[in-house]
Amino acid sequence: MDKLHFTYEDIHRTAKDIAERVKASGFDPHMIVAIGSGGFIPARILRTFLSKPILAVGISYYDDEDRPTDLPRKVQWIEEAERKLAGKRILLVDEVDDSRTTLEYCIRELMRHEPSEIAVAVLHDKDKEKRGVIPDEVSRYFAGLRIEDRWVCYPWDADDIDAHDEAARKGV
Ligand code: G4P
Ligand code: MG
Repeated sequence: MDKLHFTYEDIHRTAKDIAERVKASGFDPHMIVAIGSGGFIPARILRTFLSKPILAVGISYYDDEDRPTDLPRKVQWIEEAERKLAGKRILLVDEVDDSRTTLEYCIRELMRHEPSEIAVAVLHDKDKEKRGVIPDEVSRYFAGLRIEDRWVCYPWDADDIDAHDEAARKGV
């Protein structure tokens, strides 16, 4: 499958654009919840523009012996989540909306803590048939860019960042 490369600068600009749309929408989150690990860096950049605290959650599809599992499981979750999230407006952040499975799982788990509102922001939403759904309780959905169904190479995964940026420059 063809790949798509984005540089840190691309991602910074996309995050700024998302933040501007969040603000323009009138949504004022109490906090950002980052889905690790892909959502960590986007959440941090969003914080520059939205100035909100970040909480992190981690999901894994691997068990302790590194064997793939069918269902996701929480490997890291917000301590005292109930107290922190109840009645609060949350902006849930991840890097990519691919199958939507992880997103749906995280949204449903967060909803159990009874926030007053959940909005979702992703850098990239792949134009494809999704396996998960964004539950109706999600009030707003912000996608930085809608992209083709291609494998995205993120700069934080790059072994050679210069080669990565060169590939991004060439538009591959
Ligand atoms: P979704 O709900 O956000 O659509 O996620 P999905 O379960 O479909 O994705 C499973 C994993 O695959 C996620 O990572 C997601 O970030 C990753 N993924 C999907 N498409 C791409 C892509 O085009 N490029 C890259 N680099 N990753 C992709 P994860 O298991 O949560 O791991 P992590 O990398 O976020 O730590
Ligand atoms: Mg991810």
